[in-house]
Amino acid sequence: MNTSSAAANVLGIETSCDETGVAIYAAGRGLLAHRLYSQTALHARYGGVVPELASRDHVRRLLPLLRSALDEAGMTRGDIQAIAYTEGPGLAGALLVGASLAQALAYAMDVPVIGIHHLEAHLLSPLLASPAPAFPFVALLVSGGHSQLMRVGGVGDYTLLGETLDDAAGEAFDKTAKLLGLGYPGGPALARLAQSGHPGRFRLPRPMLSSGDLNMSFSGLKTAVLTEYRARAIDGQDKADLAAEFEQAIADVLVRKSLAATRMTGIDRLVVAGGVGANQRLRACLNEAAALEGVSVFYPPLEFCTDNGAMVAFAGSLRLAATPFLRDATFCGGFTVKPRWDLDASSSPGDLPTRA
Ligand code: KG4
Ligand code: ZN
Repeated sequence: MNTSSAAANVLGIETSCDETGVAIYAAGRGLLAHRLYSQTALHARYGGVVPELASRDHVRRLLPLLRSALDEAGMTRGDIQAIAYTEGPGLAGALLVGASLAQALAYAMDVPVIGIHHLEAHLLSPLLASPAPAFPFVALLVSGGHSQLMRVGGVGDYTLLGETLDDAAGEAFDKTAKLLGLGYPGGPALARLAQSGHPGRFRLPRPMLSSGDLNMSFSGLKTAVLTEYRARAIDGQDKADLAAEFEQAIADVLVRKSLAATRMTGIDRLVVAGGVGANQRLRACLNEAAALEGVSVFYPPLEFCTDNGAMVAFAGSLRLAATPFLRDATFCGGFTVKPRWDLDASSSPGDLPTRA
């Protein structure tokens, strides 16, 4: 077997939802290439992600992206020494496309293959930026499917501190955007509209702001928007003001809970990851409030906030470095994916991907 060192060239493959991502990361050298194809245009006419279309499109995009990433890195397939892919959570069919390619390549090339937890890849992604936060840190993970606060002690050492009890923050953005007739993808569209709006003209709730724990709830917020929307004919500036108030409400909750988590853990480093982390109002509010409390906030590079292959290659590289026996994890005759998968319950260092 091609036994890789910690400085291996790791190929990362991301296909958990509607973005096809391929990247190559080498410890010591950094990110050598990354390629991304967004299926936004494909799903836009349906107002959301159509899982079957997503899977088929991943099939179409993956190999051309792989070739292009190898070209960018000035490499051939033979230079790849390990493969990391998103094993879950996500859409089952979409995950299977990336997993199949990763496992087939690993078998053909006789290199180690590692299944990566999508949320682990997100929460380690701020380490791709400079300066990178030192462990331990508190991570606010805000994506389309998850809103969680985690204590991150090191690679594979994740403790759930709090999470949403219903909709994720990104999901609330998407559903509210749909309600306002903004289409898909909703988060960025709503954020764009909110730029010309004024928060405070409408008054939306800040759910669970004073619940005394680190849990959150966002589904009521969407209902409150619907109530306002139905109560009057909302258009033009009203719509922008409502969008701005919605965005501010989400930011207020996330800021309050995140800083409570830093106080509770006594950790003064906060990392923000996941698609909603790209939201500029959230960033501005968080930076301001954190500075007052002496907390440093770290974000991934903007292009790596939403789904991408770089964070998967990077997480794979860190896993390989942290757990040497993973370097022996070659294709073993079968594999599965994990559409539903809790990060804190199953991510101790050295966990091997489940195999059929
Ligand atoms: O992390 P991500 O790319 O995919 C998941 O793992 O879910 O996050 C996607 C989510 C979507 O809900 C999208 O609407 C939201 O992130 N999002 C945003 C922004 N950019 C993406 N939400 C608010 N403001 C943004 N600028
Ligand atoms: Zn994601």
